[in-house]
Amino acid sequence: MTHAPVSFTVFPGDCDAFGHLNQAAFLALFERARWQMLAEGPGMDFFEREGVWPAVRRTVIDYHASALPGQALRFQQVVTRLGRTSFTMRQVARRTSDEALVATAESVFVCLDRVGSAVPVPPAVAAFLLPILPPVVAPQRRIAVHGVELALDDRGGGPALLFVHGYPLDGTLWRHQAGAFPGWRTLIPDLRGLGRSDAPDLGYSMATYADDLVGLLDAVGVDDVVLAGLSMGGYIAFEFLRRHRPRVRGLVLVDTRAPADSAEGRKGRETAMADVREGGAPLIADQMLPRLLAPPAPESLRDEVRTMMAAAPVPGILGALAAMRDRPDSTGLLPSLSGLPTLIIVGAEDRLTPPKDAEAMAKAIPGARLAVIPNAGHLSPLEQPEAFNRQLASFLGRLENPPPPAG
Ligand code: MLT
Repeated sequence: MTHAPVSFTVFPGDCDAFGHLNQAAFLALFERARWQMLAEGPGMDFFEREGVWPAVRRTVIDYHASALPGQALRFQQVVTRLGRTSFTMRQVARRTSDEALVATAESVFVCLDRVGSAVPVPPAVAAFLLPILPPVVAPQRRIAVHGVELALDDRGGGPALLFVHGYPLDGTLWRHQAGAFPGWRTLIPDLRGLGRSDAPDLGYSMATYADDLVGLLDAVGVDDVVLAGLSMGGYIAFEFLRRHRPRVRGLVLVDTRAPADSAEGRKGRETAMADVREGGAPLIADQMLPRLLAPPAPESLRDEVRTMMAAAPVPGILGALAAMRDRPDSTGLLPSLSGLPTLIIVGAEDRLTPPKDAEAMAKAIPGARLAVIPNAGHLSPLEQPEAFNRQLASFLGRLENPPPPAG
C-alpha cells in the first residue's frame, strides 16, 4: 500500500562540505523517512514489538535532481512486494516547493530474528505493510505450472468452462459464475502475477499466460474447454486459440476487443508502468475504477473492485501492461474461427471496450452471437451477474453434446 507521505527539511548537517546531498546522505534521508513513517504510524518500536528486525539486503537509488539545505522534501513510500520473509519498498522523494522528483530508492528487506536468521514476516507487520489482501476463494487450489504456483478455483463436474479474468483483476471477478452452471465444471484461475498466484518479476506475455492455462488444464486432467475471457482475458483467449486451438470447444468473448494497442495506447501503457512504479497498485486502482463500472455503481461493488485492484502485486501489473502493450492484432484471426461456437458479451455502457468493438468482432466471426447487457460497464459478469449468466447458460445449452441436465 502507499503509506501517508512524510515530509522533512534538509539540514546543513545532512550535506557534505560543498553543501550537497551526496550518495551517503541520500541513503540516510531515505532511512529517516522510513523511521518517520513508523513514528507517525504504529510506533518506532513496531518491529521490535513483533520480535523481528528488518535488515536491508539491497538498495538501488536513482538520482534525479539536487536538494539543498533548507528545502523540504516529501517522501512517498509504498511496499511493492511482500514475500514470506522479505519485502520490497519503493520510496520517492520530491521537493515540496515545486514537486520536482529528487530521487527514488528501491530497497529489499529481510526480517531477521535476534540471532540473525531470516524469519517469516509477522502477520501484524504484513498487515501494516500491505493491509489489503485478496479474499480467499474456496475451493481454491494452488498448482505449480512453468515454475510458478497458480491459484485455481475448481468447482463442479462435467465439461469444463475456463474463465480468464482481466487486468488488474483476479479470479474473484467471476465469483458469480463459479459453480453456477449445473452439469459444468468451472475453472477460474488467477493469472500469474495477479490475485493469489505467484508474481515473478519477469516473463509476462500473452503466450506465457496462454501456456500457463494449458499447463493448468493438463494438471487437472482437462482436455478441452469452453473458453471465456474478459478484456485482457479475451486477448489471452486469442493467443490461446493461435497456440492451442484443438483445446477450445466454445468461445465467450466478454468486454474485450481484437485489435492491438494503437501507438497512443502503447504510450498509455508506459505511463501506467511509471505510475505503478511510483504509486503502487492503489494508484492504478484509483485511476481505473471510474472507468470500469456503469453508474450508479453500488458502493459495495466499487469497494470490492477497488480492493481487488489495489491488492494486485506490482510485478504482475507491470507484466500485464507490457504483455498488453506488445500483444499482436487479433483481427485477422476472427474469420478463421468459423465453426467454433462463439458468444460475444458486452456491457451496454462499457467505456473501455465499447459495444462497437463487440459488434465488429461479431461481424468478423462467422456465426457468432452478440449479447449486450443493459446497465453494465466493463465488468458485466460482476455488475449484472443474472443477465450475464442467463446469456451464458443459453449459449452453453446450444452447444453440441451439452452436458446432461442437473439432478
Ligand atoms: C482489462 O480490463 O483487462 C484491461 O483494461 C484491458 C486493457 O487495458 O486493454
